[in-house]
Amino acid sequence: MADSQPTLNGLAAKITELSETLTRYLCENNVPAPTFAADSPTSYVNLSPEIFMTRQVLLDTLMDMWYLTQGPSESVFNYVHTCMPDAAALNILNYFDFWSAVPLEGSASYADISQRTSLPQDVVHRILQHATTLRIFAETEPGKSSSRIQHTSRSAALARSSGLRALVSTVLDDAGAPMMVMNEALQRYSRGKPTLTQEMSESSFALLHSGGTFGKHGNSWELLENDGVGEKQGWRQKNFVEFMRYVKEIFHLEGVVLESHDWNAEGKATLVDVGGSAGHDAVVLARNFPDLTITVQDLPKVRPVFKANLPTDLKSRVAFMEHDFFQPQPVQADIYIFKMILHDWPDHDAVKILQALVPALKPGARVILFEYIGNQGDSEGPPLPRSIQQMGTATDLRLMALFNGKERPVDAWRHIFRAADQRFEIAGIKANPQNFFAVIEAVWRG
Ligand SMILES: C[S@@+](CC[C@H](N)C(=O)[O-])C[C@H]1O[C@@H](n2cnc3c(N)ncnc32)[C@H](O)[C@@H]1O
Repeated sequence: MADSQPTLNGLAAKITELSETLTRYLCENNVPAPTFAADSPTSYVNLSPEIFMTRQVLLDTLMDMWYLTQGPSESVFNYVHTCMPDAAALNILNYFDFWSAVPLEGSASYADISQRTSLPQDVVHRILQHATTLRIFAETEPGKSSSRIQHTSRSAALARSSGLRALVSTVLDDAGAPMMVMNEALQRYSRGKPTLTQEMSESSFALLHSGGTFGKHGNSWELLENDGVGEKQGWRQKNFVEFMRYVKEIFHLEGVVLESHDWNAEGKATLVDVGGSAGHDAVVLARNFPDLTITVQDLPKVRPVFKANLPTDLKSRVAFMEHDFFQPQPVQADIYIFKMILHDWPDHDAVKILQALVPALKPGARVILFEYIGNQGDSEGPPLPRSIQQMGTATDLRLMALFNGKERPVDAWRHIFRAADQRFEIAGIKANPQNFFAVIEAVWRG
């Protein structure tokens, strides 16, 4: 058994081979390689699908090397010791916008940063001392008291990208603390039961936010809409909108939406994007298909972001409407789309959201779901690199913490439609193995 196990030298050789393949590709395709310097490219661009996969295998191999170099106990000890301080430091840097407190070219003193962030200098110093061990910021003269702080490529990436900042805020600040009480929520509400509780009020999020110090919010959307006072109210929703835009950008979801349906064949058609955020998908659809008229429905605090982002030339065809999707659908349209909506809800809520459409549905109306389906398990070929599997597994656990929701396999969506109303007929399911998104289309046979 031990013979087939990876060894340090075996892993090192594989790492060398994979890094050579990656760097050869970068060279041949003129892709600039990132460095740790502040002026480095912020990501690898234009990687072919094959080289993207090579990079993910390299990441898996590096992780194995990391585990094996430490040995089993210390790999756990070291991880446990640093993972929360790492996450907390990053969250603090982001929350207090250390990114803009240090110029991209040049440096700032600890006192300057303390003034810009309104945090005590000692706190600034301690946070940055940990951050620099993660190559987030660096000291100009490491270890010397005269040292100032400068950007590295990792901190500069955050200074440059509002999307990356929004991602840190949503994943660490909104969802981080609830994830740390998942054990307690499972202990209280699901232990000894055959399935996870389906009550949103019994989620880890609800446990943390059911009153007291962390505010009273029934679910994470209520926190996003209501946290903050005065002008600041809704700041988390604004962030979340930016996060969703960024997710669309990094996972190239524009193509998924454009290719999901024969939009041209619809001719002049009306479409409602339910929970459509600030309209990033609606704008793409309206731009590409001039016969579509689109209503974007979402919660109130999304409206100002929508208004600020809507291109003037689309104002006559793309509009925003405040609408709670649990309430009866007020717009009679030809098509309703739900992109990454139902995964946030337990089954019975997902069913209710679809049922709320029924009063508005005319025969032949279409309902299209876009959902991440992850690796469906029985796929042919070798298993996906663990670093890719984690994209799905990590989101899935986050959905459990926030909503008692989950990433569902394709078949589950059929059941949800059926449970909502027998008059929904599944007209097509496209699952794209490249991006793990499924498009599930139903027709109303009422
Ligand atoms: C995961 S995001 C998806 C956004 C968008 N469809 C996309 O793919 O980028 C979920 C959206 O549902 C909205 N939402 C949550 N609860 C809602 C409710 N009760 N009624 C309407 N929208 C809601 C949120 O504000 C958020 O914009």
